[in-house]
Amino acid sequence: MNTIISKIDINDIDKNEIKKQSKLLAEGKTVIFPTETVYGLGANALDEDAVKKIYEAKGRPSDNPLIVHIYDKEDVYNLAKNINEKAELIMNKFWPGPITVILNKKDVVPYRTSGGLETVAVRMPSHLIAREIIKEAGVPIAAPSANISGRPSPTKADHVYEEMKGRVSGIVLGGDCNFGLESTVLDVTTETPMILRPGSITKEELEDVIGTVLIDPSLEKKEDNKKAKAPGMKYTHYSPDADVYIVSGNREDTIKKINSLVAENNEKGLKTGIMCLEENKNSYNGEVVSLGSTLEEVGSNLFDALRQMDKMNIDIVYSEEFSTSGVGQAIMNRLLKSAGYKIIKA
Ligand code: TXA
Ligand code: MG
Repeated sequence: MNTIISKIDINDIDKNEIKKQSKLLAEGKTVIFPTETVYGLGANALDEDAVKKIYEAKGRPSDNPLIVHIYDKEDVYNLAKNINEKAELIMNKFWPGPITVILNKKDVVPYRTSGGLETVAVRMPSHLIAREIIKEAGVPIAAPSANISGRPSPTKADHVYEEMKGRVSGIVLGGDCNFGLESTVLDVTTETPMILRPGSITKEELEDVIGTVLIDPSLEKKEDNKKAKAPGMKYTHYSPDADVYIVSGNREDTIKKINSLVAENNEKGLKTGIMCLEENKNSYNGEVVSLGSTLEEVGSNLFDALRQMDKMNIDIVYSEEFSTSGVGQAIMNRLLKSAGYKIIKA
């Protein structure tokens, strides 16, 4: 497939390039564009044939529902019905931004978009390029993360260019995604809202606005994963080619353990990669990728670090464990999935 590439600077948005890409979307074709979380692979959410192309480009199971992206908050009323007060509070407080709400769908949303469910996931992104693209397309845009199914979500222009060129009709190269982790998915159709996927908007932030919020209990353990309420959470995900392990323990023990594992791997001729906090990077032997100094930085760098490991032909990756407070909940959720829940005690 011929892919039309547009390079767009977020600080000086070229309206002609936006128009070119949005036209493809309006014609029922697929376009990849940046959002504040990760790059999305978009198509007209109301057009079944267009949506089918998303699943084909990603190699994604078709029971996995898509998030519908809108330009204006008012557009949510065309897609969803029986929207309750808590949903309104969340949308008013956090939109535009990295949160997706699950609502009861109207008939206009095809089952191919909702993965056969009676609900629809809706999000209003804040990224200026994403907003221009959706506005200009004039239709709501279904967009999963723009990776081949199972791979880490793309957070940089290079990621989508390398992985998706030739698989979609258009790609907007628009720099780095600042949050770097996918949106928080919140089901607001139930009496007490439930987080189906943790993201950069945290449980605490949500509870400040609507009171008690639950977290889908199946997210915590591998065995329970098949019961996850967001269909996407039950699939293998975020996997680089390398085998990933999380090493759990205090700082000193973790460093000692990882270095002894690196020595063992060296003897076996295996190349080892390490993902750690910036402050620890000089303590390790092996190929070290620093994830940054704060949890926010770790969230923003995680997927790129996993992709870097593949670029360096790493066989085994050890990652430090991170706190599960605040955005740490989302980080550890993605890290555990990419490690297939393999944890080594230091
Ligand atoms: O940040 C994001 O959300 C990115 C950007 C592109 O917006 N999109 C994204 O989409 O991560 P995707 O398709 O990779 O993940 C959507 C998640 C999946 O886990 C899916 O199962 C869940 O949301 N989901 C979508 N619709 C749902 C529904 N009606 N009920 C429950 N879960 C739903
Ligand atoms: Mg995804």
